[in-house]
Amino acid sequence: MGKLEGKVAVVTGAASGIGAGISVAFAKEGATVVLLDLVEESGFSSTVSQIVALGSDHYFTYRCDVADEQQVNEMAIWVSANVGDVDIVVNNAGIFIESSVVDMTTDIWDKVLGVNLRGTFLVTRAFLRSMIERKSGKIVNIASQLAQIGGTEASAYAASKGGVIAFTKSLAREVATLGISVNAIAPGPIKTPLLDGETPEWRERKLAELPIGRFGEVSEVVPTAILLASEDGSYYVGAVLGPNGGDVMN
Ligand SMILES: NC(=O)c1ccc[n+]([C@@H]2O[C@H](COP(=O)([O-])OP(=O)(O)OC[C@H]3O[C@@H](n4cnc5c(N)ncnc54)[C@H](O)[C@@H]3O)[C@@H](O)[C@H]2O)c1
Repeated sequence: MGKLEGKVAVVTGAASGIGAGISVAFAKEGATVVLLDLVEESGFSSTVSQIVALGSDHYFTYRCDVADEQQVNEMAIWVSANVGDVDIVVNNAGIFIESSVVDMTTDIWDKVLGVNLRGTFLVTRAFLRSMIERKSGKIVNIASQLAQIGGTEASAYAASKGGVIAFTKSLAREVATLGISVNAIAPGPIKTPLLDGETPEWRERKLAELPIGRFGEVSEVVPTAILLASEDGSYYVGAVLGPNGGDVMN
């Protein structure tokens, strides 16, 4: 019996990297997973084939921009009609655009905050009322260790993720006694397409300052998501867990 047997999970940014890893792991634990992403249908194929390889057909794909209020609200109506009540939401969709503050356009700031912070709010709100009515739910928000230590030329990203952490703690206080747990994961640098844009100089500098001396794997973040999405994590409230190779030590 899997840890998420019979549960319905919505994972945003499920076509790639950490979201793909979490989606496959949730399916392995018995959940029905709604894979949500901005990509075309073919972009879901890698995640879908990994779920199918497990022998599971308990998945749905849905194209949605998490920063778009109308799309998110329509998505929630579709999920409720076609999949059922949602037990777990993982707000994982995220973008990173490098820029110094002095050269940052307002468009970059708005884009990064729009996906990472507004998207987390919109998707959470779309499922929250139903969770409150059922007195049950798990919300897992993917933040970043850069929210805790800052990052050169990463201020929009770090600010968005700091917002995600503050949102997580505030919502956790609102709904903890209503049977809903809200927590965050703040990973360190993990080998996904998100890191592909980084320069060799950045990589060298980051590796030198990382106590563990290497970048992380998606598989090293996934167990924390299972913990927070399952009953194993029932006493975590507004926590920020950090699979980060020692970049931040709490
Ligand atoms: N990789 C890292 O080092 C690292 C570290 C800390 C935190 N994170 C966070 O982990 C999360 C996942 O990142 P990743 O490394 O797997 O990146 P990734 O680029 O591999 O995956 C991100 C996914 O989000 C989707 N996405 C982007 N904008 C979207 C939107 N508006 N609506 C819906 N989907 C959208 C993309 O299409 C993509 O499939 C992000 O929130 C990221 O900030 C990553």
